[in-house]
Amino acid sequence: MKKIRMLGLLLLSLASAPAFAQAPMAGPAATHRPPTGEDREAYITRLMRQMTLDEKIGQLRLVSVDAGPDAHKDVLIRDIEAGKVGGIFNTVTRPDIRLLQDAAVRSRLKIPLFFAYDVLHGHRTIFPIGLGLASTWNLDAVALSGRISAIEASGDGLNMTFSPMVDISRDPRWGRNSEGFGEDTYLVSRIGATLVHAYQGADPAAPGNILAAVKHFALYGAIEGGRDYNTVDMSPQRMFQDYLPPYKAAIDAGAAGVMISLNAINGVPATANKWLLQDVLRKQWGFKGVTISDHGAIMEMIKHGVAADGADASRLAITAGADLSMSDTMYGQNLKPLLQAGRIKQADIDRAVRDVLRVKYDLGLFQNAYRHVGVAADDPPDTNAESRLHRQAAREVARESLVLLKNDNQTLPLKKQGTIAVVGALAKSQRDMMGNWSAAGVPGQVVSLYQGLADAVGDKATLLYARGANVVDDPEIVKYLNLYEKDIEDDPRTRQQMIDEAVETAKKADVVVAVVGETQGMAHEASSRSDITLLGGQEDLLKALKATGKPLVVVLMNGRPLALGWEKDNADAMLEAWFAGTEGGHAVADVLFGDVNPSGKLPMTFPRSVGQIPMYYNHLNTGRPFDPQHPDKYTSRYFDAPNGPLFPFGYGLSYTTFDVSDVKLSAASVRMGGTVRASVTVRNSGQRDGATVVQLYLQDPVASISRPVKELKGFQKVVLKAGEQKEVSFTIKQDDLSFYNNDLKRVVEPGRFNVYIGLDSENVKAADFELRAAKGEGKAKGG
Ligand code: BGC
Repeated sequence: MKKIRMLGLLLLSLASAPAFAQAPMAGPAATHRPPTGEDREAYITRLMRQMTLDEKIGQLRLVSVDAGPDAHKDVLIRDIEAGKVGGIFNTVTRPDIRLLQDAAVRSRLKIPLFFAYDVLHGHRTIFPIGLGLASTWNLDAVALSGRISAIEASGDGLNMTFSPMVDISRDPRWGRNSEGFGEDTYLVSRIGATLVHAYQGADPAAPGNILAAVKHFALYGAIEGGRDYNTVDMSPQRMFQDYLPPYKAAIDAGAAGVMISLNAINGVPATANKWLLQDVLRKQWGFKGVTISDHGAIMEMIKHGVAADGADASRLAITAGADLSMSDTMYGQNLKPLLQAGRIKQADIDRAVRDVLRVKYDLGLFQNAYRHVGVAADDPPDTNAESRLHRQAAREVARESLVLLKNDNQTLPLKKQGTIAVVGALAKSQRDMMGNWSAAGVPGQVVSLYQGLADAVGDKATLLYARGANVVDDPEIVKYLNLYEKDIEDDPRTRQQMIDEAVETAKKADVVVAVVGETQGMAHEASSRSDITLLGGQEDLLKALKATGKPLVVVLMNGRPLALGWEKDNADAMLEAWFAGTEGGHAVADVLFGDVNPSGKLPMTFPRSVGQIPMYYNHLNTGRPFDPQHPDKYTSRYFDAPNGPLFPFGYGLSYTTFDVSDVKLSAASVRMGGTVRASVTVRNSGQRDGATVVQLYLQDPVASISRPVKELKGFQKVVLKAGEQKEVSFTIKQDDLSFYNNDLKRVVEPGRFNVYIGLDSENVKAADFELRAAKGEGKAKGG
């Protein structure tokens, strides 16, 4: 942790917190005035006066083009020269970017392009996937991953990332959980804001910084049944309380862009949703940046059933406030005829064009179109050169992303001696260790889990390997997962043959490390699952390995919570590794051998089975809550499964133990507007140094609308030497007690509040205090 802080301080010195694009004509943008010297709005006004309608519409097109030889590049270059393209994504090397920017500079008005890419958890150096980053509960680690992503992406000539992805999700069936930061509003908001600062720095135009476009606005993580692209239907209270705050936090942190989600919200697709894109985003939140439709989303409004044809869809999108059309010909084809027919106004187009040009101005591109991409003479001779990677930082962050789920009889840490059997197809996979959306990462540069273990033991121990099982072997599923990108490479042997080999291997070893879970493609866009158990005979493999009597360590690689009931009951130890990135194998080895003590905590509840979904810790109590001490029939429960999760939100073990004292409050009663300090003493009661995350939860037990049983409102990661203790305090402010009432007003209601502090969301110490009405105001609620 200390190293992360130091590495982070170095990189963060470039990144203070500007309110980019929110304050017209103020701030860093003024330092990047174009040669005319005009300020932003004046420059844009003058430029727009010179633009033809076609050139204006051209600015609203965001075109995807892959690097390397491309059949359509000539057409694209001609379009750019004609001023018909505003921005490009998926082009990621300096020569490719320069080629296209050259074309823009040849256009009549020389309006530069901007270049975007999906840099989600690293660019060339890959960090753990979103769920892994969130499992660190360490904002310095998150910031470090964001700074390095920005430095590497800007070093390749890029100007913008489609990140952070802050969709709250309570449904493990959804494949895109892997990209986000889990189920909790507070944690996701903090991480989102941290990443925006880290990407954008104090000046988005400066080398080493890129713009952030937060996504997917809005509520994409709440799609019904966890089935990708499906519908969202949600109460306004839940939206404003739980699902919208992370987007707002990113915007408050200065995010320059907002990507609009593909889903409909209460019947209206987000891309056509005036209420969302204007009333909430612009009027309530004051967003002044650019909005970007998701891939093909404008056209999809026909299938959503709200537009009759492409023209109708374009009209809906532009009037709702979707500025840029991503990978979609709709604006290019339809805006001009729509205007000529009087179906849209010039002002609709102009407003969107101004948003796009503002971004370019703030990027300093009117001053220098080649600002990030530089000159050819400075291009790296090898884009993928090892020297361009930040391995040490990747390893530090990955170590903190690992969550120890179980450790009976001190099975872990392992000793670097004897014989260790490593089993599982994922153990040797470099591609899967990177996870999905791995930007410009190169699988060959990734340390697989097996390689990490091999590097750690050197010649001190013998490693044996057996594949044991395929990750999936149903031919239909394999075909699906391999449709666009090869994800699964199955071993043709039968399940039994592979298991037999693994059992023989295990018998020769002192301990078995079984690496099971999902491929990266199984936890991706368009990768929803109705079954969240292990597939491909992996569970049978674990059963057979268990039967050998050897200690069984299960290491999980996966991008969503999985239902692992048998594993929890039978494995001797379990480590959640997610997809840990370029240095994943080394980081896992560091933890398995005890060179690093694990400190990650789950950012998402693990259910026992798919039938419990949605499952989240901050649920309402209901009128008939289930009480495990006094189980009763007519209470809110399943009769065929326990109520609780397999592993709760915030959970994660260590090789040492920590004790948490009772909660001390600075006051038993406080007037409205005052603060209360809640403290505990945390003691490392074990034999090893270690780190843990102290979590503060609050509950308003009697309010005008039913409030959750608890909600996260603060956390601190603390490092304690064996035997050391530390006081950890949180200041509870009025805002922490507030919620949206039935009239959608943010209120704080006087009365008693419960304070819970612990090391996960279930095992907490409790206290309570009274919030009194301000002088002269009404009585406290709840008697
Ligand atoms: C995804 C976005 C992504 C975009 C561009 C879409 O399919 O939903 O998250 O940013 O593609 O790659």
